[in-house]
Amino acid sequence: MKNILVLNGPNLNMLDKRDKEIYGDSSLAKIEQNCQKLAGEIGVNIVFKQSNSEGEIVELIQNALEKFDGIVINAAAYTHTSVAIRDALEIFNKPKVEIHISNIFNREEFRKNSLISDVVNGVISGFGVFGYEIALRGIVNKL
Ligand code: DQA
Repeated sequence: MKNILVLNGPNLNMLDKRDKEIYGDSSLAKIEQNCQKLAGEIGVNIVFKQSNSEGEIVELIQNALEKFDGIVINAAAYTHTSVAIRDALEIFNKPKVEIHISNIFNREEFRKNSLISDVVNGVISGFGVFGYEIALRGIVNKL
């Protein structure tokens, strides 16, 4: 069975306490539940992680090279700032999908730039938490 790492960046552990207009009212635990359910339906194994630390995310991506066939990543705020996460993703030479709950293009200017978009296979942004399902289906199609 194929293994997919679903990786979540800073403040996503607080999702149900963030602006509901932008992020909806789901918790990260609920997203994980939905992802696990879908994984069962489509026959893949997923490991779901969240970290607030840039270095830890880099290490999770580095270690994924041995263990995982693909990565779905919501790098959250690090999307717009982290060359280190971008470089780690570049080394991961297997399918990768970037996902954002909100539409990063209709918010503040600084969110319009993603440092990781050009090192991933595809980007899902603006479909709310349903984006995780789209991203998972999209990556499975590339495995
Ligand atoms: C986010 C968008 C980012 O700009 C923001 O910093 C986040 C979440 C999203 O899922 O919409 O924390 O990645």
